[in-house]
Amino acid sequence: MSATIWTLICRVDDIPVLGSRRVARTQGLDVAVFRNDQDEVFALLDRCPHKGGPLSQGIVFGTHVACPLHNWSIGLCDGQAAAPDEGCTPKFSVKVENGEVFLDAHQLATQATDLVRPIAGPASKRPHAPPLRGSLPPEGAEPAWGGPAPALRSGSIS
Ligand code: FES
Repeated sequence: MSATIWTLICRVDDIPVLGSRRVARTQGLDVAVFRNDQDEVFALLDRCPHKGGPLSQGIVFGTHVACPLHNWSIGLCDGQAAAPDEGCTPKFSVKVENGEVFLDAHQLATQATDLVRPIAGPASKRPHAPPLRGSLPPEGAEPAWGGPAPALRSGSIS
């Protein structure tokens, strides 16, 4: 078994209290490095286990971060979603020494590199999808409301 090679990331003071910094990787999504109000430092993949929200933009409280998208609470120690929600985001090993933050170089290079962020919008384009509500019908097509507007009746209003 080989010894862990630690990569210097930043100083603890470079991470805002109750905030985070993102660490870019050559492959895979960023890693979010969090600091809580006890100056404890944690690292998770910057991807919520719910729908991929950027956890680095969440709010840190205690040993959890609240996802900015739908407010799931994710444990900073293990990446686990708090019940009743279910799911887990990969965590990364962190070492703090003399006020400096290190991440495991091997994990940075290899862990969860296959996970991507979900893409917003329809999953696929259907060839004959109905028009979106409020959009105009294609040129020459019958209007969705069934034809020309009824003619106004002449006469007096009584
Ligand atoms: S994407 Fe994080 S709570 Fe929905």
